[in-house]
Amino acid sequence: MHLTKKEEAMCNGEYGETIRKSMDILVALGDIYGASELVDITSAQVSGVSYKTIGQAGLEYLEDLAKDDKGVATVTSTLNPPGTDLDNWDKFGFPEEFSIKQNQIVDAYGRLGITKTCTCTPYLVGNVPRFKDHISWSESSAVAFVNSVIGARTNREGGPGALAAAIVGKTPLYGFHLPENRTADWIINVDTPLSGADFGALGYIVGQNVGGDIPYFVLENTPDNNDLKTLGAALASSGSVALYHVEDITPEFDVADKNNAFEKLTITKEDILETRKNLTTTNKEADLICLGCPHASLEEIKKVSEIVKGKTIKNKLWICTSISVKASADRMGYTKTIEDAGGNIVCDTCMVVAPIEDMGFKVIGVNSAKAANYVPSMCGLDVVYGDVEELIQFE
Ligand code: F3S
Repeated sequence: MHLTKKEEAMCNGEYGETIRKSMDILVALGDIYGASELVDITSAQVSGVSYKTIGQAGLEYLEDLAKDDKGVATVTSTLNPPGTDLDNWDKFGFPEEFSIKQNQIVDAYGRLGITKTCTCTPYLVGNVPRFKDHISWSESSAVAFVNSVIGARTNREGGPGALAAAIVGKTPLYGFHLPENRTADWIINVDTPLSGADFGALGYIVGQNVGGDIPYFVLENTPDNNDLKTLGAALASSGSVALYHVEDITPEFDVADKNNAFEKLTITKEDILETRKNLTTTNKEADLICLGCPHASLEEIKKVSEIVKGKTIKNKLWICTSISVKASADRMGYTKTIEDAGGNIVCDTCMVVAPIEDMGFKVIGVNSAKAANYVPSMCGLDVVYGDVEELIQFE
């Protein structure tokens, strides 16, 4: 990979130890994937935050890295969800020792210059790249959204690669950064209208079929941004989709792709119904309904507040979102309506990266196919899959 004189000096440690280590990672990635050079980025989104996944070794690595005050993020950079509500962990029963360690991890990232906006939907709260911007993001659902719906350019980075890119302000130029790698491979004809959790089911089926290829959807009805984030999260978790196109909706769809795509798939109403059924792993009732995977938007919180207004929710309800979206929900009165009904808005974390298996829950109700996919494998708990209206039960 070609390096400029300044980049070579960075590799030689002339700009400090953290930048040297970051360049090591970027150069190794570039060499592995055949990148020609490094390209400037405008934004980074860094995963590898939950103490559940990176543990004590990850905490010590980050604290060590953060000792060098010359090695800090040089572009807009935000964090993925940690494993606890950073401010209110005791109110919701997150384990104390875990939560203290978790806060130490986030503080170390803060010293590295990464904004402590902890969310998998950073595009809702200020980390919003432009069309065709090169960026380095690592949360798979956010990668799918930002590549597909905004048309920015990122590979599915690992946490260390995105952190290194945030600090150096560059990433290796390969893969989805190149326009020739962004054309559709599959045409997916969906011959039924979709709503709510149908979009997760669609993403789940298609991800299983296409793996890491690029699907091009022809839909019967128009999805909104919430539907697209649900779809992308499911595609990215059952497959490894980083980019999809939706005809007449997403910015890079090209009808010419229809002639070049090498595979075709038709999804019927029966496929959607069967997948929705199969994503549920138990016939028991959920003891925790957990919405917000990916993190809830203000519109999604508003919808829940309208559903529960003036009623008493039977089971526990968490809506996971960022602290910034919750602040808007507080101001709009949605938080109070939801709390009056017995639910809560939980900030920063989510049902997958939090240690919910240690918090007494057995069955989690979710409206996200990504959560339905990961809660059994990462938390060892059962899930019930459905629309918000089906999941929330009242006294
Ligand atoms: Fe976000 Fe957690 Fe789902 S990180 S996409 S809410 S699994």
